[in-house]
Amino acid sequence: MPDTATSFDIMADDSRDRREQIVELLKKAYWMEIETVMSYISNSVNPDGVRAQEIKESLEADIQEELGHAQQFAARIKELYGVVPGSMEFAAEQSYLQPPDHQVDIVHVIKGVIEAEQGAIEFYSRVIDETDGIDPVTQDMMIAILHDEQGHKRLFEGFLREYEAEGLA
Ligand SMILES: [Fe+2]
Ligand SMILES: [Fe+2]
Repeated sequence: MPDTATSFDIMADDSRDRREQIVELLKKAYWMEIETVMSYISNSVNPDGVRAQEIKESLEADIQEELGHAQQFAARIKELYGVVPGSMEFAAEQSYLQPPDHQVDIVHVIKGVIEAEQGAIEFYSRVIDETDGIDPVTQDMMIAILHDEQGHKRLFEGFLREYEAEGLA
């Protein structure tokens, strides 16, 4: 059988090294989603004020979507003969999405969400590159999830623009 990129089988015994590399990328993506769920829960509850309401509702809806992403990554780790990590392996990174000093500081939340979505966009784009011609199923899943994150980022950029237009950001 010719050894071409299109005939590469990520599930094959001799694809083990490539598979394990992809599983490591998926574990990182999984933790990013889990941390985003934590951050979006707190930021969908903490903010005060009339104007915060829209942001809180938007984040509340996103929680389910990000949780769904985490579950998709977990399922793909398992399919690739990996093990979904336990909570003891978790290490937090989203310093920018911690509660602000004042709960009316909604701009802090909006900027934090944009940073989290941008981080996901950059990392998932890298996974899309690294799975190209090697694991089209993971790549396909990543493309769909990247699309979701782009939508989230764009929405929050719109929120930020409104505050900027009013000189509040
Ligand atoms: Fe996500
Ligand atoms: Fe997102």
